[in-house]
Amino acid sequence: MRSGIVWTIVALAGLLIVISLMRFNLTALPEPGHVETRAANLAKRALIYRASRQAIPPRPLDTKASVDNGGTHYGLECSICHGTDGHTQAPLGRWMYPRPADLTGSQVQSYSDQELFWIIQNGIRFTGMPAFGKVESPDHIWDLVNYVRTLPGELHGENSTESVGRKDPSVSVARHRLGRHVGCAHSGSCA
Ligand code: HEC
Repeated sequence: MRSGIVWTIVALAGLLIVISLMRFNLTALPEPGHVETRAANLAKRALIYRASRQAIPPRPLDTKASVDNGGTHYGLECSICHGTDGHTQAPLGRWMYPRPADLTGSQVQSYSDQELFWIIQNGIRFTGMPAFGKVESPDHIWDLVNYVRTLPGELHGENSTESVGRKDPSVSVARHRLGRHVGCAHSGSCA
């Protein structure tokens, strides 16, 4: 009797798997579903937390110069997907599956600096997020981390978590230069 129930459950589970595989489609057009996104995010955060425990190079001493450099690199390497403000996905990123993260949102801003460093250095497998560890020096990766911290969450009325850049008034000027950096990145004439 008991084994009959178990076999029924196994058969039903098998049937569900077959039905979902038949419905499975490789298109990147639909928005990723809520359950899938939640499960993927939970697994991702745990894996990033674990992987980023190793020691990383020290952060640059001059935060303002670092944010400024980060803005230039952001315009060249990140805005193509994440958008110039880190929030409004660019056309290329808009239809990726999963979509590029909102860098101004609390989900990203709640990563530690060490985790952000790891993400930019290693990328995220099975997503469009590239690894920059082979093309950027550790200093430049720090610049990007510092710059991401200055992206204004208040753009969409969010009172985001603490961050180096947001607390440090010396870097707020650099934030406003993003337009210039992105403009120069596209025209190919960065100073
Ligand atoms: C080719 C498109 C693309 C480019 C270029 C790109 N990203 Fe991403 N990025 C993504 C996608 C897609 C995700 C979402 C990954 C996910 O949902 O797991 C992401 C996620 C992230 C995240 C958050 C990780 C998370 O939990 O989702 C950070 C931080 C990030 N990117 C920073 C950057 C920075 C900094 C640069 C430039 C140095 C950059 N990205 C360039 C596509 C891109």
